[in-house]
Amino acid sequence: MIELQPINETFVADITGLNVRHISDADFDDIYAAWLQFGVLRLRNQPIDEDDLEVFSARFGPLEEIPMGPRSVEENAKIRNRYVLQLSNIIVDGKPIGGLGNAEANWHSDMTYVETPPPASVLLGVEIPEQGGDTYFADQLAAYEALPAELKTRIQDLTIKHDAAHTSTGDLRAEFEAFDDPRDAPGAVHPMVLRHVETGSQALYLGRREWAYIPGMSLDESESLLDEIWSYATAPEFVWQQKWHPGDLIIWDNRRVLHRRDDFDPQSRRLMKRCQVLARTN
Ligand code: SIN
Repeated sequence: MIELQPINETFVADITGLNVRHISDADFDDIYAAWLQFGVLRLRNQPIDEDDLEVFSARFGPLEEIPMGPRSVEENAKIRNRYVLQLSNIIVDGKPIGGLGNAEANWHSDMTYVETPPPASVLLGVEIPEQGGDTYFADQLAAYEALPAELKTRIQDLTIKHDAAHTSTGDLRAEFEAFDDPRDAPGAVHPMVLRHVETGSQALYLGRREWAYIPGMSLDESESLLDEIWSYATAPEFVWQQKWHPGDLIIWDNRRVLHRRDDFDPQSRRLMKRCQVLARTN
């Protein structure tokens, strides 16, 4: 039996007394069940490297290969592990070693702009600034349950188009053209209320607020309904704040929670390593 300590009333728990390098299949089954139950799990003091992170993350399902993008042969050769993405503001030889820099990342769940987004994200804190860079999670199951009945009915069969062109820090990705109307945003369409394929529970599934659009509505109607829903989705009672320490490992369920991150001093160093777990096909 793993030791599980709920951190808040609804959706975050610590797992204590475990090193993820040495877990049995039975321990992992318990971790997986707890991840489905809570949506966010934290394990502190994990003395692991990129390969350990890959091995642990791959127990949840197949891993996404990090996007290769327009990199030179030399840059590709420096990638130690093709399943572990660096998120960092650290510059080496004049180039950032990872994505997102020191900017604030807006509320989102990972990669909802693709047809089959990754269910799990696994994030390891390696270098942590003294101030800022906290990550926040918002429970979309609790937010959905708390919606007024009339609003639940109104959104039950609606969908949202999730913008693929911008990052969570608001930058236009290199491979996309700029546009100024959310209806023109490229990206996948998903139900606004998602039934979880493993638990059967329903939760809001919003992706990002920026550039989102509700197909079939006028732009004004879409903007106004999205604003209304988002005011519930990220209300303080559904939000938990993670203050990172090196060695903290967090696994979250993108079908259950949104996350965002504070900005931090560009002079300080922050290094995180992340694996994205794709949907299991069996
Ligand atoms: C993210 O928004 O996916 C990054 C979270 C973080 O860097 O804490």
